[in-house]
Amino acid sequence: MLARRVEAELRDGLSATDPVAERSRRDLQRVHRFMRTRARLLRTLRQLVPAPAKPLRVLELGAGDGSLLLGVARELAPVWPAVELTLLDRLALVDGATVAEYARYGWTARSSVMDVFDWARAATGFSADAASRWDVVIANLFLHHFDDTHLALLLGAIAASTDEFVAFEPRRGWRALAGSHLIGGLGANTVTRTDAVLSVHAGFRDLELTALWPNAAAWRLQEHASGTFSHCFRATLDGTQ
Ligand SMILES: C[S@@+](CC[C@H](N)C(=O)[O-])C[C@H]1O[C@@H](n2cnc3c(N)ncnc32)[C@H](O)[C@@H]1O
Repeated sequence: MLARRVEAELRDGLSATDPVAERSRRDLQRVHRFMRTRARLLRTLRQLVPAPAKPLRVLELGAGDGSLLLGVARELAPVWPAVELTLLDRLALVDGATVAEYARYGWTARSSVMDVFDWARAATGFSADAASRWDVVIANLFLHHFDDTHLALLLGAIAASTDEFVAFEPRRGWRALAGSHLIGGLGANTVTRTDAVLSVHAGFRDLELTALWPNAAAWRLQEHASGTFSHCFRATLDGTQ
């Protein structure tokens, strides 16, 4: 079995405006199409909250340029109208065109530029404050950046600030690793190719995220493979629909 190994990814060492990083982010959109990430996320979100009684407050952590949820917003908008979406990332990558595109679907998107651990420190005190809570928190290709100590802290903050959490992360396994070495076939640049391999080594399997989730007895937790390359984790606070 592959042991989990977290190493800094090349793209994270580049500035937001570096053309190589910009190209790598476009590669990532192609990778998502190949991995059918949007369809997986959409199906899970529909199951999580089929028919909200009020406009939802949604937070995406490590949202990058915010483009991943656009296709989700287009499909979900009829059943999830007027969502207030916050796209958190340590880099300012969300442009006006993306915000305008969300607005076309009736969603209000705002970018929050900060390190997730600054957010986590602030969020940990939020559990008693209903107005500060998020209806849904999403992470995609994000949790794998962090070692177990940081993950435990981050998952603790997420659990304190929402009743519904969903994450899609790289699956750590031999078939995913083989696939990550072939990503050049999608036209990916060196940064994307290198990061794809690092991501699989830092990815998850079995119930690794479940083991780090706080107060697990109070939650319904699901963790499983989603196709060959993705690993899905869902947490719903008991008593939630
Ligand atoms: C692999 S990208 C995924 C982007 C997007 N979620 C997607 O799936 O297309 C990871 C993102 O996490 C952000 N990130 C990494 N470390 C972070 C941190 N400590 N705080 C906030 N964002 C971070 C990076 O800037 C990057 O945009």
